[in-house]
Amino acid sequence: MASCSLKSWCLFALTIWFVSPVSSSCECGYSVNSTSDPEYAVFTDLLESDFTKIKNFQDDFDWRPQVWQLNPVAALGPYGRATRLETIVPNPAINLIVNDTGIYGGQAGLNLFVPHNYTLIDGQQYLLGAELDSTRNDMFYGTFRIGYRTTKFPGTCFGFYWYHDDNQEIDIELLSRQINATDTLVNLVLHTPVGGSNLDALPGTYQIIDLPYNASAGIHELRFDWTPTAITWYQDGRQLWTITNTTLFPQQPGHIVITHWSNGNPLWSAGPPDGNAALLLTYVKAYFNSSDSQRQRDHNRRCNAVVGAEDTVCEIPSPVGPPRYEGVNASELPYFFSNDQARNATYNQTVYEDKKSGGARLQPDVGMSFFIVVTRYAPIWGMLLRAWRPRLLGFVHFH
Ligand SMILES: *[C@@H]1O[C@H](CO)[C@@H](O)[C@H](O)[C@H]1NC(C)=O
Ligand SMILES: *[C@@H]1O[C@H](CO)[C@@H](O)[C@H](O)[C@H]1NC(C)=O
Ligand SMILES: *[C@@H]1O[C@H](CO)[C@@H](O)[C@H](O)[C@H]1NC(C)=O
Ligand SMILES: *[C@@H]1O[C@H](CO)[C@@H](O)[C@H](O)[C@H]1NC(C)=O
Ligand SMILES: *[C@@H]1O[C@H](CO)[C@@H](O)[C@H](O)[C@H]1NC(C)=O
Ligand SMILES: *[C@@H]1O[C@H](CO)[C@@H](O)[C@H](O)[C@H]1NC(C)=O
Ligand SMILES: *[C@@H]1O[C@H](CO)[C@@H](O)[C@H](O)[C@H]1NC(C)=O
Ligand SMILES: *[C@@H]1O[C@H](CO)[C@@H](O)[C@H](O)[C@H]1NC(C)=O
Ligand SMILES: *[C@@H]1O[C@H](CO)[C@@H](O)[C@H](O)[C@H]1NC(C)=O
Ligand SMILES: *[C@@H]1O[C@H](CO)[C@@H](O)[C@H](O)[C@H]1NC(C)=O
Repeated sequence: MASCSLKSWCLFALTIWFVSPVSSSCECGYSVNSTSDPEYAVFTDLLESDFTKIKNFQDDFDWRPQVWQLNPVAALGPYGRATRLETIVPNPAINLIVNDTGIYGGQAGLNLFVPHNYTLIDGQQYLLGAELDSTRNDMFYGTFRIGYRTTKFPGTCFGFYWYHDDNQEIDIELLSRQINATDTLVNLVLHTPVGGSNLDALPGTYQIIDLPYNASAGIHELRFDWTPTAITWYQDGRQLWTITNTTLFPQQPGHIVITHWSNGNPLWSAGPPDGNAALLLTYVKAYFNSSDSQRQRDHNRRCNAVVGAEDTVCEIPSPVGPPRYEGVNASELPYFFSNDQARNATYNQTVYEDKKSGGARLQPDVGMSFFIVVTRYAPIWGMLLRAWRPRLLGFVHFH
């Protein structure tokens, strides 16, 4: 017995290793509602960013931080608008299991700043802001969600939108001047060829909704779902507004954008803000279909390989109520498939951060001009952040 035990144990272990299927989930996608509900939608691809954990934003290739400027005339303001990398300041949690405090104090997350003071560029006054565009530009249908707390200083605009062009855009815009102690207004806009510019949108493409809270006092979720039959906006899991006139719907794929800006124009953003205004982001979760034929083939292949198996379409948790961070245990924090190691729920997904999945990292699409801008800045990015951070920290309160 004893003489052969080691060898047979090894053989046994090897057999287990080769025959036991490595378990994975969600090969066929992620669903809004359960597949047993009367209505549900399945999306094949995902982008999840847990901003409470991201330490060095340069590592997160899911996003392309923007660097551009519009002079005061082009920006329609008294001020010009300029986006800069140094207005993007990560404040990752020290230890999210313990509490939600960031390394600089206050709530952990990614801060997008609009500094109070203007910046002179070629003798003209600009207000700095921040913009993140998703690297994925192949999003066609999806559910798009952002955990945020905006600034208490009136005078900025926070936008979260899906974008193809000015006539194909699904938009949420929150003006910090439209916040009071008990309410916040959000502007929901569908930009279409028949009209949709915020101030003179056609009826049916623009809706102002009153949220029953001060959106600078706590973290909430804004969301929109786009399916072949409806575009629906939500806050904290509750439905706000739906458009079903499909002739107004986008026809081409696009990307998502997060922006925080001001141009001093009293008709929209107003401003400049009275202080250094921080928009705090705790996450983005997007589940979407891809217009990319390679991604479609990948989906078909992995989904066809698991016919008959369980847990191949995973329901996206959609709790009703604000995302919770304070005083909760790990299982009550916002859920990310990509953090759920036990479930292996993002296998073969395309994500731009290697550690998020077993999937390959895509090559950057150098054909896109905005990426060239970013790559040109990337090498000095860390340096810029380091140089700027102490200045920002001097006057910023991560309350
Ligand atoms: C996840 O699932 C895939 C496909 O079944 C498998 O190849 C991979 O090894 C799994 N990864 C882990 C960490 O279990
Ligand atoms: C999910 O179910 C709700 C009803 O509970 C419905 O209003 C909504 O449209 C469904 N979402 C999708 C994407 O089917
Ligand atoms: C959160 O925990 C850290 C230690 O990880 C501690 O330094 C900090 O004071 C705590 N914050 C709060 C608000 O309790
Ligand atoms: C605001 O910025 C301008 C231009 O850089 C500078 O001259 C001025 O001193 C700044 N004001 C304050 C209060 O920092
Ligand atoms: C909203 O809440 C923030 C944080 O508690 C507070 O500083 C601000 O004064 C409030 N806004 C209004 C208009 O009451
Ligand atoms: C706060 O804003 C809401 C929505 O615009 C408005 O109905 C309410 O009267 C305002 N409250 C105060 C005290 O101004
Ligand atoms: C997304 O694509 C999958 C695979 O082609 C399809 O089954 C699903 O219905 C699509 N989702 C929507 C909302 O159209
Ligand atoms: C849908 O929108 C188009 C373009 O504005 C309009 O002509 C059409 O009447 C709308 N359809 C419905 C059912 O409202
Ligand atoms: C987390 O808290 C919830 C609600 O209080 C509780 O049901 C659950 O058992 C807790 N989980 C762990 C791992 O402590
Ligand atoms: C997904 O799997 C296919 C093979 O089934 C492979 O060709 C492709 O590179 C994989 N994609 C990713 C992102 O892992």
